[in-house]
Amino acid sequence: MALSIKQIGRCFASEVTGIDLSRALSPDDAAAIHAGMDQHAVLIFRGPELTNEQHMAFTKSLGAIEHAIGTSLREAKDNRLSTDFADVSNLDRAEQPFARDDRRRLFAIGNRLWHSDSSFKPTPAKYSILHAHAIPTKGGNTEFADMRAAYDALDDETKFVVEDLVCEHSQLFSRGKIGFTDFTEEERDRFSPVRQVLVRRHPVTGRKSLYLSSHAGGIIGWPVPEARIFLQDLTEHATQRQFVHSHVWRVGDLVIWDNRQVMHRARPFPHAEPRDMRRTTLAGDGLTTAQQ
Ligand code: OGA
Ligand code: MN
Repeated sequence: MALSIKQIGRCFASEVTGIDLSRALSPDDAAAIHAGMDQHAVLIFRGPELTNEQHMAFTKSLGAIEHAIGTSLREAKDNRLSTDFADVSNLDRAEQPFARDDRRRLFAIGNRLWHSDSSFKPTPAKYSILHAHAIPTKGGNTEFADMRAAYDALDDETKFVVEDLVCEHSQLFSRGKIGFTDFTEEERDRFSPVRQVLVRRHPVTGRKSLYLSSHAGGIIGWPVPEARIFLQDLTEHATQRQFVHSHVWRVGDLVIWDNRQVMHRARPFPHAEPRDMRRTTLAGDGLTTAQQ
């Protein structure tokens, strides 16, 4: 059966059928997935459940990976997965859900703010590839917002204002928004801010998008409160329902999103239930401040 891509979201997000991700990807299939990502920005594959090795092999057939070292509050000794994976689960090394007040959990639920992965790194992520191994009985959807459609819908005056703006991004800013401020000196150092342009141009399609993320906490040359209100207003605009697709997970689902073109957020779920989600990430190809 040939690979087929069918749009399921209002203006983006598509389901892919006719491909078995547990087997090696042909160059034609890899090219079709990249082309699908350029156009649809979010691709959904319904099973089969993959081993970590299959998930990683699929990821590497699409490009170079970004490691997940030093991006959470999990220490190496608590890792459930290798550092090639972002452990997006709520589980500790013994596969038990974190206690409600565990600081690793409280830091991780910052994922419930709209964001783009690794926008706090100098070279941010290209694709994220999230795979579901266990899901809660309710809640826990992942929502995506199309930042190209959001950019297109700005009025001309706002397009002019945002055109050359550069923002500062840090996990200290996103966690500060939810009142999580108890960082060690080492963590403050590790999470120091990086710069990202506010308008990105997609290297293949040439489409512009708003590069927003809850990690953005300042605009170069602007007073902080004014920058934060402006970014908040843009985020409100960009996450209106007509720009959003909500994914309801099944075990075995694998979802790829293009962090250059969409934001995403996790939705709440009962904290004592396991939600085992594992993510691989494809590396971006340079500083956004160096884009053409
Ligand atoms: C991520 C993420 C959202 C979710 O994997 O980067 O933000 O629903 N996940 O788990
Ligand atoms: Mn994320």
